[in-house]
Amino acid sequence: MSKINWSRRSVMLGAAALPMIRMVSAKPGPPAVVISSANRFDGGVNCCAKAMELIKAGADTLDAVVAGVNIVELDPRDSSVGYGGLPNEDGVVQLDSSVVHGPSRRMGAVGAIEGIKTPSKVAKRVMEDTDHMMLVGAGALKFAKAEGFQEENLLTEESRLQWLVWKRSQRDRDGHSNWGPGLDAPPEPPKTANLEELKREFPWASDELLLEAIQNAYHPPHGTINCIALNEKGEMSAVTTTSGLAWKISGRVGDSPIVGGGLWLDQDVGGAGSTGRGEENLRVCGAHTVVENMRRGMAPKEAVLDALERVARNFNQDRKRLEAIDLKFYALRKDGEYAGASLWNKSSVEARQVAQFAVCTTDGGSRQENAVFLYARSS
Ligand code: GLY
Repeated sequence: MSKINWSRRSVMLGAAALPMIRMVSAKPGPPAVVISSANRFDGGVNCCAKAMELIKAGADTLDAVVAGVNIVELDPRDSSVGYGGLPNEDGVVQLDSSVVHGPSRRMGAVGAIEGIKTPSKVAKRVMEDTDHMMLVGAGALKFAKAEGFQEENLLTEESRLQWLVWKRSQRDRDGHSNWGPGLDAPPEPPKTANLEELKREFPWASDELLLEAIQNAYHPPHGTINCIALNEKGEMSAVTTTSGLAWKISGRVGDSPIVGGGLWLDQDVGGAGSTGRGEENLRVCGAHTVVENMRRGMAPKEAVLDALERVARNFNQDRKRLEAIDLKFYALRKDGEYAGASLWNKSSVEARQVAQFAVCTTDGGSRQENAVFLYARSS
């Protein structure tokens, strides 16, 4: 066959193939969806809105979710994430984060990093600029500084006050509230903090802050933000970032930086993440379990509830012991279906708020939706 014949053939084939290509490209992709934990001060709603704005502008899904959670990391009012996060028992803020980039199937994480406001960005750099997956403690900070991150004081006056209030209501005289034989649920500290005394000691503090400090001294919170995104090309990414359990033993790392625990995503299936008591999540490899449940055909709602049932099973479904635990899972499937689920219908503290999560879709905007739940609290 001559050269000319070949090119004629290509033109003819090309013309014949055109309608086929049009048909393929006309096939609708999944809807773009971003989900996250709810977080206070509209943290989740703002996070999802930011990530969606970037996705609509054509950004990579990981850049989008990291920019979303950066809003919460940099907001000192959210005392469970980033700057202003509640410190460990030594009064030092230690942060954890992990990221998963679906298309490249790459991951990065940092644990117990100090002095950097946006650990999610450092986790992303670990993924991009090293052949490691996780850096912790002093090594993570050294790496972040080498990457150009600025070391800063993360302890705000408000979180320092809360730490001082916890110190005076702690469980034992050596200053610990986390030591004990095989603790599998948060201990109840003696209720010794007194609002009137605290008002005299911290005249600058609002009653609201002092009451929150007392509450957090008795019920150390876990907070955290998890965010998962899907774009119209079907690409997915996810991030989790946290200051972890308040008043933790220095060096304690929860589920958030553990890929498979506080975060997991498989580009072929979907993504999942968690907020709440990391120790209980780690015992069921929660995020990985949720994604594998979806791979085996469960809808996101069933998948997250099944993971919570596994947590309840670890307590022989003893509701009294489970009552001390707050734990939530979030799942986004590759086709855009999503769910948020909570162990309990309401928080154990936070004025017993109804369990919710945030979601942003291209048609419905960014909003909070009620999570499904395993158990209802009696009051
Ligand atoms: N889920 C956050 C933590 O337990 O550290």
